[in-house]
Amino acid sequence: MRPNIFIKQFPDGESYVWVQNLRSLKNKNVTVYKRLYPDAEKNIFELLLVLSVIRKATKKITVFVPYLPYARQDRESKPGEAVSADVLCRLLKSHGVKKLITYDCHFLPRPGKFTRVGLVIENRTVGQLLRAHAKKYFGREKFLTISPDQGTAYMSHHAFHKTRRSAHKIHKMEGGVDVRGRNVCILDDIISTGGTILHAIKHLRKLGAKKIIVGAVHGVFALPDITRKIEKNCDMLFVTDSIPTSGRKLKVLKLPRVV
Ligand code: R5P
Repeated sequence: MRPNIFIKQFPDGESYVWVQNLRSLKNKNVTVYKRLYPDAEKNIFELLLVLSVIRKATKKITVFVPYLPYARQDRESKPGEAVSADVLCRLLKSHGVKKLITYDCHFLPRPGKFTRVGLVIENRTVGQLLRAHAKKYFGREKFLTISPDQGTAYMSHHAFHKTRRSAHKIHKMEGGVDVRGRNVCILDDIISTGGTILHAIKHLRKLGAKKIIVGAVHGVFALPDITRKIEKNCDMLFVTDSIPTSGRKLKVLKLPRVV
């Protein structure tokens, strides 16, 4: 029997959680699936409330989160900065989570099993899903896959080297690959401000690429109108539904939900 988890909001906006049939979880291995973005703070807190209850009964808790928020601040680049990735992992661990499963996590270098501040993380990739979609788009035409930085080099044939000036500004993109007259699919884990992708498109145009399409796992799209701006500059834009999103032309691929 599945437990019914009721989540509602109190009039002041605070979350209320009730796990009905808690006894059905007695000594079971349980996987909790929850989207944590958008409204990351609220969703993280709701997840903690759910965990605070189910940990009383269960044997082992796995949490499956398609897009892990707060993962981008993964180190202290100047003294005094909070490392949100560690704080989130610690919170999950201290609430009884034994394993976190997620897709193309920003702070992990490749798919596989990792441990961060004591929490086991299974990082899955949907690079294959993105590449298959690009293949469908190009049909018989050949194409190259290129990542705009080394963070997602595992997804593509080539990866540029990116230097950032700030969260909003890309300083430089470098990396020699001959794209003259060739079709390219840019692959990235996240599109947030869109700065990285727009820079990569510009760089590839300069290098003489033919058709350019863009695929990303997580469409954060933090700036208004950014999907339209990217679409205007490339031949096709597609993301997955790890974050609920839509757009007139935007292609959204369904993620596998299997645990
Ligand atoms: C960075 O290392 C990631 O792989 C993405 O390229 C980055 O998070 C995208 O952010 P933005 O869209 O703000 O440039």
